[in-house]
Amino acid sequence: MSERQLPDFVERDVDLTTRTTLALPGRAALYAEIRDAGQLAMLAGENARRRFVLGAGSNLVLTGDFDGLLLRMAIRGRELIGDDESAWYVRAGAGENWHQLVLWTLAQGWPGLENLALIPGTVGAAPIQNIGAYGLEVAERFQSLEAVDLATGQTLRLDHAACRFAYRDSVFKQEGWHLNGQRVITRVTFRLPKAWQPLTGYGELAAEADRQQIRQPHPQAVPNAHFRPNLRSNPGPTPRQVADAVIAVRRRKLPDPAALPNAGSFFHNPQVSAALAERLASAHPGLPRYPQADGRVKLAAGWLVEHSGWKGRDLGRVGMYEKQALVLVNRGGASGAEVGALARAVQTDVRERFGVELTPEPVFL
Ligand code: EPU
Repeated sequence: MSERQLPDFVERDVDLTTRTTLALPGRAALYAEIRDAGQLAMLAGENARRRFVLGAGSNLVLTGDFDGLLLRMAIRGRELIGDDESAWYVRAGAGENWHQLVLWTLAQGWPGLENLALIPGTVGAAPIQNIGAYGLEVAERFQSLEAVDLATGQTLRLDHAACRFAYRDSVFKQEGWHLNGQRVITRVTFRLPKAWQPLTGYGELAAEADRQQIRQPHPQAVPNAHFRPNLRSNPGPTPRQVADAVIAVRRRKLPDPAALPNAGSFFHNPQVSAALAERLASAHPGLPRYPQADGRVKLAAGWLVEHSGWKGRDLGRVGMYEKQALVLVNRGGASGAEVGALARAVQTDVRERFGVELTPEPVFL
């Protein structure tokens, strides 16, 4: 398809500064707001130029102008498509706001997403990144998704196994998928188990739940073995209370992008060998360590950044946030180059001090 034949809904030379939560400057040569899968079919076969799919732009570092075709995902709609003995199945358009979906499912009486409240971004981005917070990853609530292949215009359906979910990772980060705009996620179906259990074990969430006095006493924590908690006076938290506790923790630690532009955690939590984790812990007793099923140990990148002297420290117009050192913030008017320079400076200092390599979590475009 030549440029002349591009459909009417494709705009030219569009400013992207307000389209990403880091608020970095840049323009897209071609830009299309995608409201239904039919528009994607109209773009099928148009393989000549670079493409990129943009959701809410909450995990993206714009390094400058984009000379290709930017597809802004705006497919809406959310519905209960069915239920069985074990679960409710909820389907949502890829362009739906993630947090609004969480609140809506809770209001409908279908709990299960509450630990993921207030995560910025869209429904379509959630499986790409396998978003996670406070002891839950979206993979644990995922049923299937639909995508359109822009080479053929055909719709694909992927089940859980096909998505190859891992920590902040999935098949969608591989070549040929979303990030280079070849196959585009259009709708996602979630599986919300009817046997609901509050997940309030994650450190800071547990503390917040205790503060709000919504956590059920754990029987093993009660010294008198005959004592049973009075379930009527303390029935444990409701899903909405868990969501409110999550929202309270996030508001305290993570800056609102509307007030202080950022892209959430800027680095992955690194996984290192047990031997290296052991060596580091004996040199640095406070080092948080999370042993993984495969024998490796996950370290807290925020702790490493803080203990390399970067918490609350700026470089040019960007800095590492004072309340959560893993969040890179734009203090105002920064460029993608400044973000890159700070990221490299932090990586260098963490490498020199701890011998650990940090990898950026957001996508660079
Ligand atoms: N820590 C520090 N200093 C800091 C920040 C953290 O010492 O400045 C320590 C904390 O005290 C704690 C540990 O590091 O012992 C972990 O910190 P926290 O619980 O804040 O979580 P995180 O590992 O920094 C991850 C996710 C977040 C998610 C939270 C809660 C990654 C890269 N980040 O952060 O996800 O909200 O857990 O589950 O896995 C995101 O991906 O954008 C994101 C915000």
